Amino acid sequence: MVEAMRYATLGPGKRIRPFFALEAARLFDVDERAVLRAACALECIHTYSLIHDDLPAMDDDELRRGRPTVHIAYDQATAILAGDALQAFAFEILADPDTHDDPDIRAELILRLARASGALGMVGGQMIDLMGLGDDLGQVARMQRMKTGALVCYAFEIPAVIADAREAERQALLGFAQDLGLAYQITDDLLDVEGDPGRLGKAVGKDLDRGKANFVTLLGIEAARDRVQVLADQAKSRLEIFGANADSLKDSLDFVLERTV
Ligand code: IPE
Ligand code: IPE
Ligand code: MG
Ligand code: MG
Ligand code: MG
Repeated sequence: MVEAMRYATLGPGKRIRPFFALEAARLFDVDERAVLRAACALECIHTYSLIHDDLPAMDDDELRRGRPTVHIAYDQATAILAGDALQAFAFEILADPDTHDDPDIRAELILRLARASGALGMVGGQMIDLMGLGDDLGQVARMQRMKTGALVCYAFEIPAVIADAREAERQALLGFAQDLGLAYQITDDLLDVEGDPGRLGKAVGKDLDRGKANFVTLLGIEAARDRVQVLADQAKSRLEIFGANADSLKDSLDFVLERTV
């Protein structure tokens, strides 16, 4: 099972969430090692969510990051347990004094990750996705805020918590993260329609096949693309408080949303 955990986490994923945690950390004077450890915990949760997302009971996918999904490379029981163990490992990393000297900071990182990944965050969003409850844009936006947005937001909470950022800075980062999270999932949904499976490393056309509602199935490709652009512009405007220090964060946002992988 540990081999399956390594197979999943150390495979060729984009590590977008840890990347943004480190990028946002550059706005503050913080201990990069603490940010990196918390970002690894976040990536463990994200990877566990993908292992379970690919299971036959969920999206039933056989290809992820250009390789067989964990339940294909191993078996379903191993995939379930590897996901469970990665979830526990994430909280073990955060609770470890090696992550930060201050127990209050460790506790806050743990609390926020638990909220972002649980019933009102990623897991709740996955449930709504599977139940097909998102039949209008408002519902879909709520689902996406939960299933993808919450973990993306956590990437920005990491440096904010560790740096004990001011409330105005936290709000600015949260606004940026919410817009980015939604735009990131809409981009994923667009790639499911028009992406190249060879480059993406996962199957395409899955959402339409399964009758899933998302911004692309509800609005169409053009309007979904426009929505990504509006969200990107809005996201950047939220960082004014940081001045030129946020320039590279803004550039990273464009880079991520123009992705084809
Ligand atoms: C895939 O996430 C699922 C979504 C929430 C969009 P990523 O596209 O970040 O997956 P990896 O980690 O790079 O494989
Ligand atoms: C997955 O969304 C979101 C989470 C795992 C939380 P998708 O089901 O659209 O992701 P892919 O397309 O399989 O990567
Ligand atoms: Mg899914
Ligand atoms: Mg899926
Ligand atoms: Mg998808």
